[in-house]
Amino acid sequence: MNANDSSAPGCLDVHSVPDNEEVVLVFDFGSQTAQLIARRVREQNVFCQIVRHDLSVERVRELNPIGIIFSGGPASVYADDAPQPDPALFDLDIPMLGICYGMQVLCRYLGSDVNAGQSREFGRTTCRVHEPSEFFQDLPPELTVWMSHGDQVDNLNTQFISLAATSTCPYAAVKHRQRPIFGLQFHPEVTHTESGGQMLSNFVKHVCGAKGTWRISSLIDREIDSIRERVGKSRVICGLSGGVDSSVVAALLYRAIGPQLSCIFVDNGLLRKGESDSVRHHFQEHFRTDLHVVDASKQFLGELSGVSDPQKKRKIIGKIFIDVFREEAKSIDDARFLAQGTLYPDVIESGANKDGPAATIKSHHNVGGLPEELGFELIEPLRDLFKDEVRKMGLELGLPEQLIWRHPFPGPGLAVRCLGEITPDRLETLREADAILLEELKTSGYYRKVQQAFAVLLPVQSVGVMGDGRTYENPIAIRAVNTDDFMTADWSQLPYELLQNISTRITNSVRGVNRVVYDISSKPPSTIEWE
Ligand code: XMP
Repeated sequence: MNANDSSAPGCLDVHSVPDNEEVVLVFDFGSQTAQLIARRVREQNVFCQIVRHDLSVERVRELNPIGIIFSGGPASVYADDAPQPDPALFDLDIPMLGICYGMQVLCRYLGSDVNAGQSREFGRTTCRVHEPSEFFQDLPPELTVWMSHGDQVDNLNTQFISLAATSTCPYAAVKHRQRPIFGLQFHPEVTHTESGGQMLSNFVKHVCGAKGTWRISSLIDREIDSIRERVGKSRVICGLSGGVDSSVVAALLYRAIGPQLSCIFVDNGLLRKGESDSVRHHFQEHFRTDLHVVDASKQFLGELSGVSDPQKKRKIIGKIFIDVFREEAKSIDDARFLAQGTLYPDVIESGANKDGPAATIKSHHNVGGLPEELGFELIEPLRDLFKDEVRKMGLELGLPEQLIWRHPFPGPGLAVRCLGEITPDRLETLREADAILLEELKTSGYYRKVQQAFAVLLPVQSVGVMGDGRTYENPIAIRAVNTDDFMTADWSQLPYELLQNISTRITNSVRGVNRVVYDISSKPPSTIEWE
């Protein structure tokens, strides 16, 4: 890849910066958090592009950014293969901010020493601001910041002044004396840094002078142009799951290429109440897409019959899904592309940015629902976005609020919430209980206050009493969690009255259930799902 190729994996395609749009460029030196930086900038209503660390100065001039941010990165500035920017960048009179490795690169180019830190520093630390500047405007003098580095700037050149320090880092924040150039040893983009968003906002607004006129609709226009250009006259298939991400992808594609889009929705018989109808309603009646609803529920439930092991359930479901999808896709002529709703957190978690300098962290079960051998070229228009940005995009594209705010639903669906064996009757019991739970949460306003909530049918029986008779039936467990990232979660402290309504309605109206229990376990050590 050459220095002008800014469309490397993880980098947006910078050939299409909208005219007259304020843009900030984030030079990616292999950071795990480059997109977080971009997102904080976009929150200020300023268009933000991630570009390769070695983007040429000529291309930068063409893009005409109002500011440049150098991201962090895993390398040491002294390593032989340490990623370096085009040195001519430093001759431009554009505001610059270097974060961690980015600060070291920047300070070194401008004449300061960088030394391997005596001790590597990771985690929260207190930072004291001792010099007023636009950067720390309206912020308290003492802040908790997040550090993650080995090297640090050691001998600050006289062109710079120190703005803030921690007990181990005398140059936690620095500023060039004459030019709008700042460096931070800590990471303002992560939530652990108190007021980090405000610091980046100060940089964008007060240092770069942004007016903040960019809106998510500009991103939609840009994506539409790029989809049209790439797809030409070909047909695109989009797998719909009923969830937010695939719905937004489908709506975006529909706006871009209309009749050239075909959607496939596989009804696996493991969906929530009314789900199949609601997908049909939105995508066939509202958007008038070429929607292929494949009712494969018999096949799924047939092969799941007698299976209780959660991982076996997942394997069976995953395999049938691929087979059914592949078969249906064959019936769609001229299809060359497959659109998927991969989001940025999926990309970073699975280390998919293999050509870039970032290190792989972990793989995730949500990525890669369909195998590469299907033979399509992939279109992933949400690859650079976070969930909240996808939601904004969906609303802008005319998708209904209830779909946009839908809680996540696992690929294997109710199969992993119907503990033990899966039968049509047990699924129906679970579906009814789950529908009551969701309805009560929505009418009480709690649906939006929790990030995920669902009912689980337990494979045990317990004694109850109904009228004059003794019952011996299944319990339903209610799970509701509050979480930022689904990696850790707290159980939601729902009001007793709400829990009571849910319990009464379920035990009164769902056949086969005589007891409701509330799951008060956090993740870890529990998980969100029960299987
Ligand atoms: P856990 O249970 O691991 O769930 O705490 C974390 C998040 O992942 C979802 N989840 C899945 N999603 N296929 C999926 O597509 C799966 O097999 C699966 N298992 C869990 C879960 O609903 C929660 O949002």
